[in-house]
Amino acid sequence: MNLKADDRFKMVEKTIKKLNYDKSALIEALHTAQETFGYLSNDTLRFIAKRLKLPHSKVYGVATFYHFFRLKPNGKHTAVVCMGTACYIKGADKIIQQLEERFGIKAGETTKDGIISVLSARCVGACSLAPIVLYDEKPIGNLSLEQSIQKVEELIK
Ligand code: FES
Repeated sequence: MNLKADDRFKMVEKTIKKLNYDKSALIEALHTAQETFGYLSNDTLRFIAKRLKLPHSKVYGVATFYHFFRLKPNGKHTAVVCMGTACYIKGADKIIQQLEERFGIKAGETTKDGIISVLSARCVGACSLAPIVLYDEKPIGNLSLEQSIQKVEELIK
């Protein structure tokens, strides 16, 4: 498995480039970042601020203003399920459903005890390894349904 965070940053970069590094690309860049990472971490916000030559405070302000943007979830651990086409075809929807049932939460939520947040992302850039889940940012691909839940159990124990 060789998915690097860089691959995902490249997808954000592509969006910014497409819009000619214009400051108006901010919302679009935040959307791409959230779809790619599942949420907006501080590192991601910093990356976008740098590429658009905007103050970090401005990027943070926009990300917190709109309710559809999700900052790093509160869970101690995170499981981000890639729901891009390749992963979906290989059963990502069943993985997410299983995680939702296991923890009694919906994708995008954190358990009441704060142990885990279950999130979805759109294509994390390693489709040949579908289906992929990022467990605490560590991508694991070619997952069976059983393995996908087993990895979560290992993470939270
Ligand atoms: S669809 Fe999941 S990595 Fe591309």
